[in-house]
Amino acid sequence: MVPALSIGRSRIRKEFVVRFMDRAFARLYPRIIKGSEDKWLRDARRELLALAYGDVVEIGAGAGHNLPHYDDKVTSLTLTEPSPYMVETLERAVSRSGKKARIVLARAESLPLEDKSADCVVSTLVLCSADPGGSLREVRRVMRPDGIFLILEHVRGKGRVARMQRISEPFTKFLGRGCHVTRETRAFLEATGFDVTEVRDVWIDDEPKIYGPHIVGPARII
Ligand SMILES: C[S@@+](CC[C@H](N)C(=O)[O-])C[C@H]1O[C@@H](n2cnc3c(N)ncnc32)[C@H](O)[C@@H]1O
Repeated sequence: MVPALSIGRSRIRKEFVVRFMDRAFARLYPRIIKGSEDKWLRDARRELLALAYGDVVEIGAGAGHNLPHYDDKVTSLTLTEPSPYMVETLERAVSRSGKKARIVLARAESLPLEDKSADCVVSTLVLCSADPGGSLREVRRVMRPDGIFLILEHVRGKGRVARMQRISEPFTKFLGRGCHVTRETRAFLEATGFDVTEVRDVWIDDEPKIYGPHIVGPARII
């Protein structure tokens, strides 16, 4: 029998590691992503977010990299983010940007927002971490029926890339705080009742192969 004291200690150690890693990820994220931003991601964000309009809700807003790309068509902006450490970075980004945004501490699987309250929901590099079924059901719930869901996500590839992704996933999950590189996000979108015909498959040469395959574009409620 394992003594209760040792179970207690191992749980405390695990929680310590989780908090340490979450805090480190939040602090380092802007530096981790900078190379990708400079090579292609900033341009991809700009192109995608030019479609944003009306009442916008972003899930997993992270360090606020999408903020500069919201223009005057956006009448209200709600940034949701579940990590309290990331929220600190996000608050600084919002105040630097001079934009008006409401920050809500929430997981995408449980958004404290009203049904049909958003014209546009945005998810960039989030659905690899969030539970895809639960979060997409929430996105559908808060979206107005004629709204758009703007997506930029890395996804599972094919053949050798998929094999490499399977092998590396335990590491990406730990280091990227839950990042699943084998996620088949397009299939989850279809299963949740989104029309993904305008969502393009894009291969990013500037990323390591396991992060090469992406989907980008607007999805709509069927
Ligand atoms: C790779 S970062 C992307 C941040 C930002 N969206 C961007 O484009 O730079 C992943 C983000 O998803 C957030 N996240 C993780 N699990 C989540 C969940 N269940 N619901 C919503 N966001 C989540 C993380 O806290 C982190 O901010």
